[in-house]
Amino acid sequence: MKRMKTLLLSPGEIPLAAEIIKKGGLVAMPTETVYGLAADALNGQAVANIFKAKGRPMDNPLIVHISEVSQIYRLVRVFPEKAQLLAQRFWPGPLTIILPKSDIIPAEVSAGLDTVAVRCPSDKNARRLIELSAPLAAPSANLSGSPSPTTLRHVLADMNGRIDAIIDGGDCEVGVESTVITLAGEKPRLLRPGGITLEQLRETVGEVEVDPAVMNPLKSGEKAASPGMKYKHYSPKADVVLLRGSRDSFISFVNSVNEKKTAVLCYDEDMQRLELPYISIGGAEDYCTQANRLFSALREADEKGYDRVYAHCPDTQGVGLAVYNRMIRAAGFEVIELE
Ligand code: TXA
Ligand code: MG
Repeated sequence: MKRMKTLLLSPGEIPLAAEIIKKGGLVAMPTETVYGLAADALNGQAVANIFKAKGRPMDNPLIVHISEVSQIYRLVRVFPEKAQLLAQRFWPGPLTIILPKSDIIPAEVSAGLDTVAVRCPSDKNARRLIELSAPLAAPSANLSGSPSPTTLRHVLADMNGRIDAIIDGGDCEVGVESTVITLAGEKPRLLRPGGITLEQLRETVGEVEVDPAVMNPLKSGEKAASPGMKYKHYSPKADVVLLRGSRDSFISFVNSVNEKKTAVLCYDEDMQRLELPYISIGGAEDYCTQANRLFSALREADEKGYDRVYAHCPDTQGVGLAVYNRMIRAAGFEVIELE
C-alpha cells in the first residue's frame, strides 16, 4: 500500500473529518466499544478502500452506523417488532442488529449477503461525525486479525500512514466490539456477544439462540453465519494459552511453569500470588473491567516481547461471555483442562 499522511484530529475538528468522509476518504473514529474505521456507507468505492487499509478479506461484511433510529428505514427492507424493541431499549449503544438489506446498501458493505448489520453508537464524537456526513460503514480500526483498538495509540500503531485521518476520542468505554444479533432468520440469534448481554436480549425479545460459532470453532466445511467468526482473530503475536479450572489450580499451574518470556493474564486478586510477570485485566468477577482491558492487555504482551501468555478461562455469564468469546479466539480455540 502507498503510504499517506494521516491527520490527527481533535473532536473540535469533526467537521473537517466529515468533509473527508463526504469526499470518499477514510477516518478512524472513537466509539463506545472500540475505534472504528469509517467511510460513507453508501459509497462502494470508499468502502472498498476500508478493506484495503485493513487487509480485510472482501467476504467479511461491515456494520453501518447511524445516529438516529429513524435513519434505519432506508437501509433495510423490514424493521420487525423485535428489532424495534431492541432499538428502543439498547440504542444508542453497543448492539448491532442484522436485517434484510435495502437496495441502497452497496455490495461492498454486505459482502454480497442479502442482509445488513446496523448499529446506533452512543459515543458523542461518532454521532456527531455521522450527523455531519452520512451513515458510516465501519469495522474495527485494526489491521485484520490483530486485537481491536481501544485507545488512540492502538489506532496509530495499526493505521498511521494508511488512512486519511484519526479522531482522538480518548479511550473506549466498553472495550470489546458490539453485541451482534440477527433478526433476518426464523429466530433471533446471537452471532457475537458484547456489552449488551444475552440475558438482556432475552428479557427484551424472549428466545434468542446462540450461534455455535460464539463458543466453538467452525467444523471444516461449515458455513459461518457471521463471516467474521471464521477468521483467526484478536491474536497477539504471543501464543495465548487458556487454562480451565479453579483459580487456585490456575495459580499453581502457572507458578510451576519455568519458561522465559512468558507472562500471565490475571485478575487483580491473584497478582500477589504469581511468580511470573503478569498483566491484570480486573477483578475476577468484574467482567466489564475485563472486557475493557482485554485488548490492551493482549497488545501490551506483544509490546513487552512475551512469547507466551497464560490466561484463565473466564465465566460465560453476563459480559463474561464476550470476554470468553474473544479469549478463546485469541487462543486459537485451545483450552487446557486443569482438573
Ligand atoms: O463495536 C463494533 O461493532 C465495532 C465498532 C467500530 O462499531 N465494529 C466492529 O466491526 O466490530 P467489525 O467489522 O470488526 O465486526 C463486524 C462483525 C463481523 O464479525 C462481521 O462478519 C459481522 O459483524 N457482520 C457484519 N455484517 C453482517 C451480516 N450482514 N451478516 C452477518 N454478520 C455480519
Ligand atoms: Mg473487527
